[in-house]
Amino acid sequence: MTLSYLRNTLLLLDLFVVLTHGADLAISGDAVTTRFWDCCKPSCSWNGKAHFSQPVLTCDKEENPLKDFSAGTGCNGGSAYSCTNQQPWAVNDTFSYGFAGIFIQGHVEDFWCCACYQLDFTSDPLKNKTMIIQASNTAYDVATANRFSLAVPGGNTTSHDACANQFGVSQTVFGEENSGVESKDDCDNLPESMRPGCLWRFDWFQNALYPSATFKRVVCPAELTEKTGCTRDDDKALANNSQSSATTNLSSVFTVFAAVAVIITSLLLV
Ligand SMILES: *[C@@H]1O[C@H](CO)[C@@H](O)[C@H](O)[C@H]1NC(C)=O
Ligand SMILES: *[C@@H]1O[C@H](CO)[C@@H](O)[C@H](O)[C@H]1NC(C)=O
Ligand SMILES: *[C@@H]1O[C@H](CO)[C@@H](O)[C@H](O)[C@H]1NC(C)=O
Ligand SMILES: *[C@@H]1O[C@H](CO)[C@@H](O)[C@H](O)[C@H]1NC(C)=O
Repeated sequence: MTLSYLRNTLLLLDLFVVLTHGADLAISGDAVTTRFWDCCKPSCSWNGKAHFSQPVLTCDKEENPLKDFSAGTGCNGGSAYSCTNQQPWAVNDTFSYGFAGIFIQGHVEDFWCCACYQLDFTSDPLKNKTMIIQASNTAYDVATANRFSLAVPGGNTTSHDACANQFGVSQTVFGEENSGVESKDDCDNLPESMRPGCLWRFDWFQNALYPSATFKRVVCPAELTEKTGCTRDDDKALANNSQSSATTNLSSVFTVFAAVAVIITSLLLV
């Protein structure tokens, strides 16, 4: 009796783990957003940060992708900087792609490095606008809320001088502390490759300050992974989950039914 009871309990536990794991993969919630662009090597650009195809690509000063993922960050005397093609761009008036440094409460980096999330903005002036971003970086500095710090060139300053080092320009072209450049015109002072993302902030993003959003994990689109070179191993399972989401209700009803059947069977076998 005890053996089969134990076995059935374990079976139920297995089912529970499988189901909750699926829920964790498809995580969603409310978030705040901020902006950053520090030119540093992104946190998800190091080996072993998550189960992924390869870390997020970094670039040298000439903006060529670096093959060596152990290269040190340009924020600390190293040769690896953010690649400027990992900046946001608009597809149409209501939809943009981008990259972000993120923090999700109750989790650490291996949970989000290279995962993609859909952000549906919930505050003016961005209500009804949507972004899909890939998490290329980590934002542990404020851990009181789920946070997506959008990678926007000229969108914020930084205590490091990596941008000045990378482009041989004065740090002042990147604007004021905590807010970045002040106007669309100031985008002209940035290194040329960073200007489109700077202009995006004043056009599509309407220079919004700390807009709030709901977020949900989505399978990464090729538009983003072709720029970072990074795809998470669990994106396949997520794709399977979303494909089967139409039958989710039916299958969870079935799971409960199966669980009840197992319990009844184990009682009958006593
Ligand atoms: C700029 O970055 C700092 C440090 O992370 C943050 O406190 C601030 O809110 C950011 N500013 C914007 C406009 O996102
Ligand atoms: C904007 O682009 C997205 C992604 O391609 C698409 O799903 C959406 O329908 C487009 N919206 C408009 C208003 O064209
Ligand atoms: C958002 O979309 C809804 C439904 O399509 C519409 O009624 C509302 O006016 C839109 N809000 C804004 C700020 O565009
Ligand atoms: C996705 O589903 C297919 C068909 O059900 C299965 O063969 C495959 O192993 C699944 N892949 C993952 C990563 O779950």
